[in-house]
Formats: sequence, C-alpha cells, structure tokens
Amino acid sequence: MCGIVGYTGAKNCIPVLIEGLKMLEYRGYDSAGVSFLDGKCIRTVKAKGKLSNLEERLEASKLGEMHCGIGHTRWATHGAPSDINSHPHSTEMVSLVHNGIVENHAEIEAFLRQKGYTFVSDTDTERASKLIDMLYKETKDPVATLFRASAAIRGSYAFGVIFSDFPGKIFAIRKDSPLIIAKDASGSFLASDIPAILPYTKEYCRLDEHYVAELSRTDIKIYDENANVSEPKYEVALWNSEQAKKGGFPHFMLKEIYEEPSALESTIERRISNGLPSFDETFPDNILLESIDEIHVVACGTAMHAGLVGKYIIEKLARIPVNVEIASEFHYRDPILKKNSLAIFISQSGETADTLAALRHAKSEGVPTLAIVNVFGSSLAREADYVLYTMAGPEISVASTKAYSVQCAILYLFAAHLALIKQKITSEAARSLCEKLRSELPRAVAATLALNDTIHQISTKISSAEHLFYIGRGIDYQLSIESSLKLKEISYIHSEAYAAGELKHGTISLITDGIPVICIMTDSSLAKKTISGIHEVAARGAHVILICSADIQDEHALPDVETVILPRTEPLLYPFLTATATQLIAYHTSADKGIDVDKPRNLAKSVTVE
Ligand code: M6R
Repeated sequence: MCGIVGYTGAKNCIPVLIEGLKMLEYRGYDSAGVSFLDGKCIRTVKAKGKLSNLEERLEASKLGEMHCGIGHTRWATHGAPSDINSHPHSTEMVSLVHNGIVENHAEIEAFLRQKGYTFVSDTDTERASKLIDMLYKETKDPVATLFRASAAIRGSYAFGVIFSDFPGKIFAIRKDSPLIIAKDASGSFLASDIPAILPYTKEYCRLDEHYVAELSRTDIKIYDENANVSEPKYEVALWNSEQAKKGGFPHFMLKEIYEEPSALESTIERRISNGLPSFDETFPDNILLESIDEIHVVACGTAMHAGLVGKYIIEKLARIPVNVEIASEFHYRDPILKKNSLAIFISQSGETADTLAALRHAKSEGVPTLAIVNVFGSSLAREADYVLYTMAGPEISVASTKAYSVQCAILYLFAAHLALIKQKITSEAARSLCEKLRSELPRAVAATLALNDTIHQISTKISSAEHLFYIGRGIDYQLSIESSLKLKEISYIHSEAYAAGELKHGTISLITDGIPVICIMTDSSLAKKTISGIHEVAARGAHVILICSADIQDEHALPDVETVILPRTEPLLYPFLTATATQLIAYHTSADKGIDVDKPRNLAKSVTVE
C-alpha cells in the first residue's frame, strides 16, 4: 500500500529511485512521484498512472544528476489518482512521501488553515507535509520536527522527508507502516520493502516505531523515541535480487506459480525432523499445544482461504475445532475467545493492517498468538507470540499464488503435529504424511504445471464470460473459494464460489445457457453427489468444465465434459494440485485479455490500511 524509496549518495539518484520504485510498484501503482534536493532547492516531478508516465516526465524535465531524493508509488486512499494527489507533497522547505493513513487529517487541516496554510490536493499526506513545514519553521530541527509531528498525528505512517535546509539528508519516521534503511559504499537508502535495496546490498535495518532515521551519504543515525542516538540493528536479507526479478517469465505471477514445487520443498523440509513434523524451534515444549482445545484462524483474502484449508486438515487430523475468520470482521465483533484458544494469523506480507489489528485484539484478550508469515521480521512476525515462516521467497505479483500453497503446506504439518500431541494419529500415520508432503507433493505440483497448455486452452473458453461459477464439495468447495477470488481479481470476470450441494437452494436460478461452471472434484467420497450437481447445472445450459483427480476420472468419466485431469497422487495432496491448476486458469484468462496481470486495477500487494 504505497511504496517509498529514498537515496542519498554518490550515485545519480534518479535511476536509483526509479529502479527502487519499480521493485515496489506491487504496493500501489496509480501514480508516482519523486523529489530531489538540488542544492537547497526542492525539485518535484509527479505523474498519474504507471511508473512509466513518471519516467517520461523525468526524461522531459531534463534534470541533471541528482544525489539526494525520495520517491513514491501510490495506492490512493484519500483523493483519486491524479497528478496533484500524487506524492511527494512539498512546500518550499519540506517534501514528504507517505505510506499509511493520517486519520486526523481534518483536524490538522482546520488547525493549519488558522495559521494561514492553504491546500491544493485531497490527500491526508498534504496535511501532514504542511504540519511538518509548520513545525520545522518553529524548531529548525528536522529530528525534533518529526517527533512532534508523530505526536500530533493519529493513524499509520511511514514518512520519508527532505528539508531544503539540509542538502544531502533524508529523514524518516514510522508507525504501523513498514520502513527499512540500508547502506552501501556509495550512500544510504530508505525503502518500504527489501526488494528495493537488493541490487545494492542485502544488509538492512528495520526502523523501529517512533524512531527517527537521519540518512546522509556517509552515515545513518537513528534516534530512539527519547531522541537518544541508537545503534542500527542490521539484518541480512534471505532473498537476492535475482529472485525478485521475472527471470524470463512474462509476468511475476507465472514465475511464482512455477516456483511452487521449490517453495513447497523449502517450506516442508524445514518443518520435518526424523521423518516427523517438527515445530521445536517455535514451541520448544508442548505445554501450550497440549492445552488448546479451540483454534481461531484469522487472515485476509487468499491467506484467509489458506486458513479454510487449515481448518479442514486440522479438524480432520487433530479433531480440534477451528474457526476461520476475515481479519477485518474478527476484531470488531468482540469474538468469544476461550482460555484455551490459540489464534493463528496468516499473511504473506506480515504487514496487512486488518490482520495486524486482529492480532493486537487477540493479544489484548490474553490469547496466545501464532503468526504464519512469509516476510522475515515483518510486523506480524515481530508482534505475535510465536512465528512460523513460510519459505516462498519474494512474492511480487498482486495475486498471491506460491504463498498460498506454502501456507497450506505448513498448516498440514502443523495439523499433523497437533494430531500427534493430541494422540489422534499414530507416529506411523504422521510419518507417512510427512513423507508424502516432502517427496511426493513437489513432484505432483510439478506434474500439474506440465498441464499448462491444456489449462491455457480451457482459459480461452472462459475469457469472454461475464459471469462464472466455481463449485465443489468439502475441501473442493474451499478450493473453489480461492480459485474464484484468483480469477476475479485478475481477469475481472465476476465469479462466485458455491458449495455444489447449495446451488439448488437459490443460486441455480442464475444458471443460463452457456454460463461457465468450473467444478472441482477431487474427493472421491463425494464424487457421486458432486456429479448430481454437475447434471443439475448442465441441464440448465451451463458450460461445465471439470477439474478432477485421475482416480475419479477412472471411475466416473464424464465424456461430454471438458476436463482437466490432475496427476495421480495421494488424495490428501489434491488441494495443492487444484490450487496450481486454477491459478493457471486465472493467469491465462487475465493475460489473454491483455490485463496487466501482476498489477490488476484498484489493488495493491500489501494492504497496510484498515
Ligand atoms: O499479505 P497478506 O497475505 O496478508 O495479504 C492478504 C490479502 O490482501 C491477499 O491475499 C490478497 O487477497 C491477494 N490479492 C490475493 O491474491
């Protein structure tokens, strides 16, 4: 949700900022802008639309080399995407880029109007920039100014600021929005996320909340909330810049789907020891897990859908009831959290504001919290009581794919671990599941990827549809929900997921001639019932497309139905294969329609506002 970059140093910072913004474009892409310190003069260039528009404007502006600047790629919250609403927001003395939401912008505006300030944009950020301008004029001290601004502002923010009186310096402060700082031999960097700095260094430091950073060409100074100098704590990124590039694929989404076998391998390998699920690093003893008799899984979007798969497998293996909930609903409905509950929060980014707010709510209720996250050191990882990292590597495309698969994998292993602790399965059964996950699953997912061409052909049949249904029963219904989200978010086809047995209770009235109904059928115990559902929609003119397991195909082949036959594997592993197949359906449908697959309209990868 908005990407911030900053650089001060020996290099020309124009290409550094643009390259950094390209790596962060997944965070928002409705407009972009940069400000530079040209001696004591602030120069700003902004443009509505994709980053390429800003590049053209920069080209036309014929600026010479710049050595200190900040940049921003926006996902609009206050004010429509436009040149004027784009960041940075500048006065003569101050220029500001912001990720987050200033909740009390109206109060700040009223206060500043009394002081003679006027406003040109609809953004909360312009209010913040003018507040900083006013405070700076009073203090003439950028660090003190940011502390005072932070005390006056309610909401979430990562601010990158340059002051005309301080050539060569960038200042930053944050609350609830991520910000990292880094250094190489040429200078210092500021960014919302690691990919932006990877071409220069793998060492970075996460700025603590309410701390101020002062970046110069030779030095980074950090001030804690009492304005005392604090040593930056550096971490080393586990990802390299190659991983954060497309690597020959036309889109990040396709590359990330093709990375699923290796992402699964890395995630699963780490959680198996002596052939059994191993969570000792996170839970050195079993005291907590022995005591829990109820689980809440809380997350958003695709991560929440991984929770649905988690519910299925935890309840099946460990027989512990699991409540799966959308994070933005969870913490505002005053959920009943029993003493022996465990609350699990799932997130690729670890920065999703709704999930973070829900985690804080659970903590305030005294419930132990476990975060399953992909990004090391992210806010959720740091705030949860316990953390399990997924090993998907960087996921850049807005549509989450490999992150979902590895979230499901870790939930499978956690379910087996709980089942062992609760004595619901034998060690042999747990060992056998681990072995299937470790050796069979990556191979079966790779075999599903080999169906890419067949799946592409199916996509061409649905790309002109306006409406579509995904249906399934049991776990196949849970997969339908995720498949439907994936398709709609990147192909713009209205898609709904329905439990196959539920259609006849109302929704079947929407089935008309030619409407595509994609049926997922991998659970052979439910196949006969699902087939009845297929007949019901086919009789009303639906264009049925079937995704089914090889075993079901052997027994119940439906000769008149276009079918994607998933490679033969262990029944419990089919959800992973289904996910890969339906991600490919969504991908090809979107790509064939000429949509910007990795950056679908109105969305952002990391949703850091509630
Ligand atoms: O970073 P998170 O996993 O917390 O993100 C949660 C959702 O915003 C995310 O899964 C979203 O639904 C994706 N666009 C789905 O592809």
